[in-house]
Amino acid sequence: MEDKKYDIGLMGLAVMGQNLVLNMVDHGFDVVVFNRTTSKVDDFLATEEAKSKGTKLGGAHSLAELVSKLKRPRKIMLMIQSKDAVPAPEIALYPNNAAVDAVIQDLLPLLEPGDVIIDGGNTQFKDTERRTKYLQEKGIRFIGTGVSGGEEGARKGPSMMPGGDPEAWPLVKPIFQAISAKVGPNKDIPCCEWVGNRGAGHYVKMVHNGIEYGDMQLICEAYWMLKQALGFSNEELYKVFSDWNEGELNSYLIEITRDIFTVKDSETKQYLVDLILDTAGAKGTGKWMSQLALDLGVPSTLVTEAVYARCISAMKEQRLQASQVLSGPTVKFQGNRSEFVDQVKQALYASKICSYAQGFVQMQAAAKEYNWTLNYGQIAMLWRGGCIIRAVFLERIRDAFAENPNLENLLLAPYFKNAVENAQSAWRNVVKTAIELGIPAPGFMTALSYFDSYRSATLPANLLQAQRDYFGAHTYKRIDKPGEGPFHTDWINERQQ
Ligand code: 6PG
Repeated sequence: MEDKKYDIGLMGLAVMGQNLVLNMVDHGFDVVVFNRTTSKVDDFLATEEAKSKGTKLGGAHSLAELVSKLKRPRKIMLMIQSKDAVPAPEIALYPNNAAVDAVIQDLLPLLEPGDVIIDGGNTQFKDTERRTKYLQEKGIRFIGTGVSGGEEGARKGPSMMPGGDPEAWPLVKPIFQAISAKVGPNKDIPCCEWVGNRGAGHYVKMVHNGIEYGDMQLICEAYWMLKQALGFSNEELYKVFSDWNEGELNSYLIEITRDIFTVKDSETKQYLVDLILDTAGAKGTGKWMSQLALDLGVPSTLVTEAVYARCISAMKEQRLQASQVLSGPTVKFQGNRSEFVDQVKQALYASKICSYAQGFVQMQAAAKEYNWTLNYGQIAMLWRGGCIIRAVFLERIRDAFAENPNLENLLLAPYFKNAVENAQSAWRNVVKTAIELGIPAPGFMTALSYFDSYRSATLPANLLQAQRDYFGAHTYKRIDKPGEGPFHTDWINERQQ
């Protein structure tokens, strides 16, 4: 009898890898697994759940064995772990850079033209661009796919954002779409579609993560306003977040935040959230989005403030010292408490809209720069289920791009324009209150500054251009002479005083 051949091989049996494998088997695919530390293969196959999958699940103790057990064209998915979370200032630039390259080198002599390698990690898109081209030259088809949803998503249906070599897509599409989350009235629309060539999938996943950073930061600021300004207890916070989850803010992150306020530490019987050290870690995807926004010259200020907020949180020792030296206002909140709760909700919603607007602007700029054709409405729907930022709100984004595929900024779509305008005075009041009471709210503030800058026909950059021309002869253009110039002035000799 011929040896059994499997539909797909997966290397990397950390949490995400194991859960994806079980998900694939549940959807009828035969999967063979491999891990560098081979005892992990045996341990995994010995679990009750793995054993229950019978012959649909197999193991290999070397890459060669893994490859030999696959149907042609072979499909090998790498779920190689990135570094463990580290405190923000020490974020590695490309966490799984070297590991994926090393495995590709080991795989190359074992594969033949037409075979497919899939990288399902949080990889920096430039590596995926490079790997796709490098492997294309060797006849190997490469896919770099975003996989979002954590452990539960991987097991029950993640959101998947594949990009790379388009010839590979039809080969993995049935597997990816079967295992992904499903949305729509009949729960039959997969949260997995081809995103675009080369690094497009990993770029879109990075933007997903950047938006995730923004959402989380804004939720934390809302929590802090309610706690610091109004002195809300965890029970009250639970009620507020339950209520918010019923409306336009309905989302996975609001839902888990609500639930966090109910969890008590079994040892001390205190609320666990109050026992957690306030220093945030980060693996780097948020930082990449900020860095790449700067490269493109687009203002993705929400993710950047969210990264900085993690950085300053990690400076715990310094903050402890500074808190002994620097003081802020001593005023107490004076206004109507229940009105303020609603205002915080509106500030959160309006800031969130700005954050998503920035994320889509960055994707549009990146598509132009890196030569991808992205379908923005479809991307919104890839995030509708399975992933960390899943929310009802994403359907409105899909609608906005359906109405106008060339929409330059979500803030210009009628639905979001109205939403932000309606929230505006509440949003300003929350920012004002944060300033008056000395409560840090960098996300709310940067979002409002973005909104105010974006809607301004004129900005003070005329003065900035004059300064640049004064000290560096950097030249300027004139509003009274359009199409002419650039102009330069000898500012020192033209001074009147
Ligand atoms: C997801 C998450 C996941 C993870 C990131 C971000 O989409 O499932 O985004 O990829 O949470 O690693 O983690 P950091 O907050 O550590 O950067």
